[in-house]
Amino acid sequence: MAFSEVVGSLNSTKKLINLLRGWPNTSLLPNHLLDRASHNALSNKAVAFSGMLYGPDAGDTRLRKNVASWLTNFYQPPKPIPLERITITGGASQNLACLLQVFTDPVYTRNVWIVSPSYMLAFRIFDDSGFHRKLRAVPEDDEGIDIDFLKKEIRRSEDRARADGNNEPQMKPDRPWGKVYRHVIYAVPTFSNPSFKTMTLRRREELVRVAREYDALIITDDVYDFLQWPSSLKAQTLSLDKAVLPRVVDVDRYLDGGAERDGADGFGNAASNGSFSKICGPGLRTGWVEGTEKLAYGVSQTGSSRSGGAPSQLTATFVAETLESGELQRYVLETLQPAYGSRYRTMIAAINKELIPLGVRLPQMDRDVVGGYFIWLTLPPPLKGTVVAQRAKDEENLVVAQGEIFEVPGDTEHAHFENDLRVCFAWEQEEKLAEGIERLARVIRSMQNDKGGNDQTMQHATGEGAKDFW
Ligand SMILES: Cc1ncc(COP(=O)(O)O)c(C=O)c1O
Repeated sequence: MAFSEVVGSLNSTKKLINLLRGWPNTSLLPNHLLDRASHNALSNKAVAFSGMLYGPDAGDTRLRKNVASWLTNFYQPPKPIPLERITITGGASQNLACLLQVFTDPVYTRNVWIVSPSYMLAFRIFDDSGFHRKLRAVPEDDEGIDIDFLKKEIRRSEDRARADGNNEPQMKPDRPWGKVYRHVIYAVPTFSNPSFKTMTLRRREELVRVAREYDALIITDDVYDFLQWPSSLKAQTLSLDKAVLPRVVDVDRYLDGGAERDGADGFGNAASNGSFSKICGPGLRTGWVEGTEKLAYGVSQTGSSRSGGAPSQLTATFVAETLESGELQRYVLETLQPAYGSRYRTMIAAINKELIPLGVRLPQMDRDVVGGYFIWLTLPPPLKGTVVAQRAKDEENLVVAQGEIFEVPGDTEHAHFENDLRVCFAWEQEEKLAEGIERLARVIRSMQNDKGGNDQTMQHATGEGAKDFW
């Protein structure tokens, strides 16, 4: 069953509360903006016909231009972002696949390093590109990525490749618009799904240096960056129009001469996948990727984009309209940030009241700015996430995600999340968020009171029934 198709307990008299689903609540979808934008686009023949026909490989030019200036305003990089750094995509997931198609070779590319716990729906995208035996988990620490672990392991991987004589791409031809990287590193550095953490600037810079040293492409899903608010429960200003940190792709542009430094090939070592899914609606399937001009051009040359142009051409014209009028930017600042911030504060207040006294811990609670869709909870030992999630469903008709689903398949030794849960504050009605946490607290309390019952509950969770809410 897909993650999104969760049903609750069939026997419960309580109404389902779903804190697993990572979708925007329908009240937060800006259908009024899209209504106007689509009408404007479709009633102007020049815009409508270009949107409804095959388009440029790099995507709708107006959207590229608008995205470039919007990102420049938000991230404030040392130099403005030109449209040549932007290619329009079918969203972050679709473009992850395109990046792998153009820039990797399943034999020559040694490993895909995945900061873990990780966005679980990316795993199959890596599998599809031939990497299912090459996925490696990189654990996080309090700064967001355990960089020493990565350095040590990537060096080992290089030594092995050299010993094996793995010196050139095997499956991919040499193409002027592309290159094949030796490694891929995948991360969600800001307001991560699922870990809720933000990678520090120091770690972002170290990561870029490691990538340059080992010829790695860092692919980041920067899909939550705009959804941010002050962490203080009493903050006066509830919307923030500038990013807290540069993205990894910004760091790669400014650090030590950027991609144009002496000896570099100009492709750079970072690609930022942006998406309109979380701020406009996932059904749009529209996003963008930013990288060096060479990288952005290279990904626009993916076979499926060369055949008819970038995906989501028509919806791109609608989104371009909302950005050009400034309405989408205002919607993010004036509606989404306050609304998600309020949901977050409701959930955190309930966590502080109900779960912290039971010994549940949260990561990085000293940040000034938080954001995203999710909160990561570490249970007090010896409670297991799988058991708690199963009992929450059976006893409380509450659905939460157990940490283990975010483990990198085949590499769980250094990044194992059996004591963790992820809860989402974006989907459920806001009124139900506190009740969801209260139900979770009841389960935890009852397990803690269940003297000597841990062995029994462990067995219960590893049975077949534990899987059916995926
Ligand atoms: C980290 C991350 N990447 C990608 C996506 C999906 O993005 P898109 O809808 O643009 O493919 C999500 C959605 O949950 C996500 O959390």
